[in-house]
Amino acid sequence: MSWVTAGEAAAIVKARRFAFDVDGRQVLVVAHEGGFYAFDNICVHRQRELTKGVVLNGKLVCPGHQWAFALDSGWEAVKECYQPTFPVRVSDDGIVEVDIAPAADNAPAPSAADGS
Ligand code: FES
Repeated sequence: MSWVTAGEAAAIVKARRFAFDVDGRQVLVVAHEGGFYAFDNICVHRQRELTKGVVLNGKLVCPGHQWAFALDSGWEAVKECYQPTFPVRVSDDGIVEVDIAPAADNAPAPSAADGS
């Protein structure tokens, strides 16, 4: 685990999203309906920034080509792929923290059709 500070929960709620860099990786925290969700900010499709996307029906919609990633898992049901996500927690003093270590864990497993 590698928890890093994203920022104050109240400020992220007000802004609805907050992106920051850590170890060369862009992380996006989205505040939605009382929860916080963290994504790799760079879309798995064609590397657009998800910061500029919108949240609709519990999904973060990329501004590039409208792939829609579930807030709780990063799953894109039409394309059947994941946008990397990160665990999020809020400390007792209202600081949002993101565990950047396991981002690769939810990457789709190679299929037999890939030949890999
Ligand atoms: S760049 Fe995100 S859907 Fe194409």
